[in-house]
Amino acid sequence: MEKSLIIKEIKRLKEEKNAVLLAHFYQEGDIQDIADFTGDSLYLSQVASETNADVIVFAGVRFMAETAKILSPEKTVLLPVKEAGCPMADMVTKARLIKYKEKHPDRIVVCYVNSTAEVKALSDICVTSSNAEKIIKHYQGQKMLYVPDKNLGTYLREKYDLDMELWPGFCCIHNDLSLDQVAMMKKKYPKAQFIVHPEAKLEIVKVADFAGSTKGLLNYVIESDCDEFIIGTEYGIIHTMEKACPNKKFHILTNDLACYDMKLTRLEDIYYALKDNKFEIEVTKNIRVKAFKALDKMMKLS
Ligand code: 13P
Ligand code: SF4
Repeated sequence: MEKSLIIKEIKRLKEEKNAVLLAHFYQEGDIQDIADFTGDSLYLSQVASETNADVIVFAGVRFMAETAKILSPEKTVLLPVKEAGCPMADMVTKARLIKYKEKHPDRIVVCYVNSTAEVKALSDICVTSSNAEKIIKHYQGQKMLYVPDKNLGTYLREKYDLDMELWPGFCCIHNDLSLDQVAMMKKKYPKAQFIVHPEAKLEIVKVADFAGSTKGLLNYVIESDCDEFIIGTEYGIIHTMEKACPNKKFHILTNDLACYDMKLTRLEDIYYALKDNKFEIEVTKNIRVKAFKALDKMMKLS
């Protein structure tokens, strides 16, 4: 089918089914452009919990669609590509977390939103990269475990001097960023500021002009007086940055900053998701109720 026809059909089906299309900033530009809402993990969770639509189509990865289902259980939540997961989310399993909790019953479990519903159900509170600093301040002085992103955890632990153990998980694209890459790009673009997502290692975050969630990075480039940036996060965000700041220049730190799972979704998949109601996300009531508590606490403290 031709692209313009697919877009027309997506719009028609959205209306027919009273559906809303949410897209993460790491999606391809054509998907971000037709989405009703584009944003970071926190914003899209807020939209999912407040929407009046009957159907939520989530152009992103599984944990995001699961989060939408937990927050809006009465809605049909669709993930257009069944296999679109997050390797970091799968680095902490229910079985291992149960074992950890048995050994350390005194530690509060703080869980990055990039995690499965089962792991959220075993956690005391969730955070995203845009609210982690605000939320963690409420727990200063208490014993914590942070799952699964050791890099964001290290950043929080160092900045707020926390008694926090870290799960050894990481995002496979952000974790690979190196100081050599930063030095090379800074040499190539000496006037550019380097901005990075805190899923990168602390040594990279420390040399950045700014570190923040995808939305935080977007706001930074919009508000900054600088007009050239080296981007240390998944390249999908550059589409939105270029739209918001057509006169500024953006250089991706490395072409490896491409999330395989985020890029599995194509316009055709969104069309088939709407047409055939697939792939519907299910979360069992027992898990959903417990995971909701951790997410709800996060929403209230955000
Ligand atoms: P945010 O959009 O919340 O910054 O998260 C980035 C990410 O890795 C999503 O998978
Ligand atoms: Fe997961 Fe990293 Fe992809 Fe985000 S960018 S979905 S953390 S693998």
